[in-house]
Amino acid sequence: MIATFNALLMIARAESGQARGDMKEFDAAEIANDIGELYEPLAEAKGITLKVEADTAAPVNGNRELVSQALANLVDNAIKYAEPHEQPLNGATPEIVVRALSEGDRILLTVADSGPGIPEADRSRVVERFVRLEQSRSRPGSGLGLSLASAVARLHGGELTLEDNHPGLKSTIALPRGGPVQSAG
Ligand SMILES: Nc1ncnc2c1ncn2[C@@H]1O[C@H](COP(=O)(O)OP(=O)(O)O)[C@@H](O)[C@H]1O
Ligand SMILES: [Mg+2]
Repeated sequence: MIATFNALLMIARAESGQARGDMKEFDAAEIANDIGELYEPLAEAKGITLKVEADTAAPVNGNRELVSQALANLVDNAIKYAEPHEQPLNGATPEIVVRALSEGDRILLTVADSGPGIPEADRSRVVERFVRLEQSRSRPGSGLGLSLASAVARLHGGELTLEDNHPGLKSTIALPRGGPVQSAG
C-alpha cells in the first residue's frame, strides 16, 4: 500500500514538472554502475548474472534521484520477470545487461534481459498505470514501474521505449545529452 502510494506520488511529481526544480548535471554512467551494484546481490540470489557496461562520460541535466528510480524499476522488472521459472534453459545462466551509452545528442540507459519479453501488441499499454500482463500475475507488483520510468523520461524531454531483445525485453530510457554544448564543428 505504502509502496504504491509512494510510486503514485513520484509519478505525479515527475508529471507536474515540479521535479524540474532539482535539475543538475550528473553522469548517467554512474547511475548505471550504482544501480548495478545495488541489484547485483538480488540477481545473483536468483541465479541471474547482472552486467553493467557504461561509457566513461554520459552527462545528463536532470533529476538524479528520479532517473535512478526509473532505471531501478527497469532492472527490478528484468530480474522479476526474466527469472527462470521451473528449470533453467539448457542450464545456461540468464543474463541481464545494464548499459549507459552516449549516442549522438542522446544518452541511453538500457536494460536488456532474456526472459519472456512483452508482445509487441502490449508494449504501449504496459506503460499505463496499473497495467500488468496476464503472464506476470504470479509475481508481486502494482503496475506502476514503467509508468514512472516513462514519466521521468518525459520530464527530461526524453522517452521510454520497449523493444524485442530476441529473446527478452530491452527497455531504454533515452535522455537529451547534458553537459557543455558541443560545437557543430
Ligand atoms: N522485463 C520484462 N519482461 C517481461 N515483462 C515485463 C518486463 N517488464 C515489465 N513487464 C510487463 O509489464 C508490466 C508492467 O510493468 P511495471 O509497470 O513495472 O509493473 P509491475 O512490475 O509492478 O507489474 C508487468 O506487470 C509485466 O507484465
Ligand atoms: Mg515493475
